[in-house]
Amino acid sequence: MNQTPRVATATIIYESMFGNTRAVAAAIADGLRSATTVTVIPVKDAPESFPDVDLVLVGAPTHVHGLSRPASRTEAGTWVDDPERHLTLEPDAEGIGVREWLDACADAPARYAAFDTRADMTELFSGSAARSIEKRLQKLGAQQFCERKSFLVDKNSVLEPGQLELARDWGRTLATELQAPALR
Ligand SMILES: Cc1cc2nc3c(=O)[nH]c(=O)nc-3n(C[C@H](O)[C@H](O)[C@H](O)COP(=O)(O)O)c2cc1C
Repeated sequence: MNQTPRVATATIIYESMFGNTRAVAAAIADGLRSATTVTVIPVKDAPESFPDVDLVLVGAPTHVHGLSRPASRTEAGTWVDDPERHLTLEPDAEGIGVREWLDACADAPARYAAFDTRADMTELFSGSAARSIEKRLQKLGAQQFCERKSFLVDKNSVLEPGQLELARDWGRTLATELQAPALR
């Protein structure tokens, strides 16, 4: 008897102060939709468990080499007040970040992939929010689905050209891997 294959499900949780990580999350979701049912949720609305989700992607901006803290988010707010930076604050910027959300998570997702936005330089100097996300999720017992991915911004916190296309491509690759029978 032929069985229709179940469509894989993915949830993307993101934090964003200036909109870059949100735009990356949306582009990853576009790519994932080629073969996956995707939900995109700002971290302030994120659930604390994921019973029926095949893959949870978690993304955040890199602040002070890792995940944001209340003080770095306050600092980000002051960047917006500087007219020379041409930055606007996201409507969802108020409230918790990925660090606080992961600290409160009841259950780890079964499988995760981490991403971040960070400065366009070697990770050794920029640090990486995705690296901190991985450490925390591994501690919770979640299984890594693939290598973390960084999307790069310039010195004005504007995404470098081509980053959203890379994000879409990454989403498509993940969708293909999620369809692999051994993983379902
Ligand atoms: C307070 C603060 C600290 C930052 N520290 C770092 C850092 O250590 N390394 C880095 O690569 N980028 C750093 N950045 C730049 C952010 O990574 C960049 O603003 C972010 O990727 C933009 O994403 P968003 O628009 O989603 O907030 C910092 C930004 C702020 C506001």
